[in-house]
Amino acid sequence: MTRRRWLAATAVASAYFAAFAASAQLLKQGDDALRPLYAQASDIAEGKDLATSSCAKCHGGDGIATDRLTPNLAGQRPAYLYLELKAYQAGARANVDMTEKVKFLSDDAIVKVAAYYASLDPAQPPQTTPPELDDPVAAGKAAAATCAQCHGDNGVSHKAGVPNLIGQDAKYLVETMQSYVSGDRPSDESNEKMKTALDAFKHKDFANVALFYALQKDGLTRAQTPAQGDAAVSKDSLSRCVKCHGEDGVGVSPSPSLAGQDWTYLVKALHAYKDGSRDDDTMGPKAKKLDEADIENLAAYYSSLTPKPTGVARPLTPDQWADKCDRCHGANGNSTRLEVPALAAQRLDYLQKVLHEYQSGARKSTAMAAMSSVLTDDDVEGLAIHYAYAKARAAVFVPVPSK
Ligand code: HEC
Ligand code: HEC
Ligand code: HEC
Ligand code: HEC
Repeated sequence: MTRRRWLAATAVASAYFAAFAASAQLLKQGDDALRPLYAQASDIAEGKDLATSSCAKCHGGDGIATDRLTPNLAGQRPAYLYLELKAYQAGARANVDMTEKVKFLSDDAIVKVAAYYASLDPAQPPQTTPPELDDPVAAGKAAAATCAQCHGDNGVSHKAGVPNLIGQDAKYLVETMQSYVSGDRPSDESNEKMKTALDAFKHKDFANVALFYALQKDGLTRAQTPAQGDAAVSKDSLSRCVKCHGEDGVGVSPSPSLAGQDWTYLVKALHAYKDGSRDDDTMGPKAKKLDEADIENLAAYYSSLTPKPTGVARPLTPDQWADKCDRCHGANGNSTRLEVPALAAQRLDYLQKVLHEYQSGARKSTAMAAMSSVLTDDDVEGLAIHYAYAKARAAVFVPVPSK
């Protein structure tokens, strides 16, 4: 077996540094965080002693953690380890266990223990097959199977009184489905079965179903139902609606789209706002000002329009997300930047936990706050799986042939 060590010789250390220098570096030569790179074999041995006595219980003697929510440290990037240990020491990264452990460590001790863990062979990814996550659109389609009998296969209504769901704003769809469940929006005999189906929805079903309908671009048409009234409404009358529902009937989110909506349903909805049975602070006052002719004619106007595709895009898959992360974290999470952690073969539960902490702000990092804020819970889970199952490569360091 080859014994691998960090070498102290400056020439070698700068060759090592050069291997990382290809990407933009936040660290400058002379920065304390680079000190683990210059550790001697004897320093690493001292780092190992410290690790054995005060870290191994949780992080493993070989840097492979066996405890829940505890990160693997083996093969982690040396400057990153140093910086995190300093952050715990300063209380900038909040964790009671870790702060206790590093509180009294000298800077030298931190350098040595960081060098030791960085020098170890990284964890192997789990040998099991990675858990598979549902594709959100396919899951939405499956959850919407019972809706088709009234709303049509892809959300185009063929029954007077049943609204089109195709082309509807996704956020509005989620909120309105939830309002039936909570009882804020009344249901009646026309949609009793729908209430039963929605009551059985799991949390994720709402977003998935909304995504499914919002993404139906093929077959996007007006409701295939009859209309009455006069679609030639005056500009004056429309002017009270266009700010939110558009002249073309495309809603400004979260206002719903009205283009091509079933006429009977539009009339029913306006009556419900007018008599207060559908309670809404925005629409209530507007509907109360409409007389019967206004209601029928505005409904005729909007139902005559052709719906437009929503601005909603298909969510990125974990692999597509990971391409963005890899710009900083290296190919498949094998960072080549000294201050950026490797993610490959890190523990799944830990990755998921810290991503949520960046999102909530419990763990602070400018780079990661921006990146994580746009991730959904599914994205976080998918990315944690992606990296936990990625093959890890050791930090670049200099192998020394065994004597
Ligand atoms: C009681 C268990 C425990 C002990 C002992 C312990 N750690 Fe930790 N360590 C943890 C946990 C849990 C975390 C994750 C905390 C968090 O999310 O901030 C952690 C996080 C870390 C991190 C951050 C890793 C990363 O990927 O961001 C480093 C570095 C670290 N520990 C090094 C050490 C060193 C060095 C020692 C010994 C001096 C040590 N730990 C002792 C439990 C422990
Ligand atoms: C029995 C027929 C029926 C079934 C089944 C049904 N719906 Fe409905 N749905 C209706 C009717 C009728 C309305 C209009 C009710 C009203 O006036 O509030 C409606 C309204 C809606 C609305 C409000 C649309 C808007 O523009 O405000 C949404 C969203 C919706 N349904 C989603 C679903 C979903 C998702 C399912 C499947 C889980 C489903 N529906 C199943 C009949 C049905
Ligand atoms: C200030 C913004 C705003 C204006 C102006 C406005 N609406 Fe709305 N409209 C909304 C919002 C928000 C909702 C969703 C309310 C809810 O959740 O019930 C809505 C819902 C509706 C609905 C029910 C759609 C559905 O799918 O269930 C109809 C019909 C409607 N508006 C018609 C009109 C008409 C006609 C006018 C002009 C007279 C108008 N609105 C003016 C914001 C507006
Ligand atoms: C602009 C560069 C950049 C991008 C892009 C980026 N990260 Fe990071 N990431 C960092 C830095 C720097 C850190 C260390 C921050 C700290 O000290 O908390 C980090 C830390 C992390 C950690 C903590 C690792 C540990 O061991 O505790 C995880 C997990 C992570 N990033 C995941 C991701 C994911 C997933 C993405 C893509 C959605 C991503 N990052 C995109 C720079 C980036």
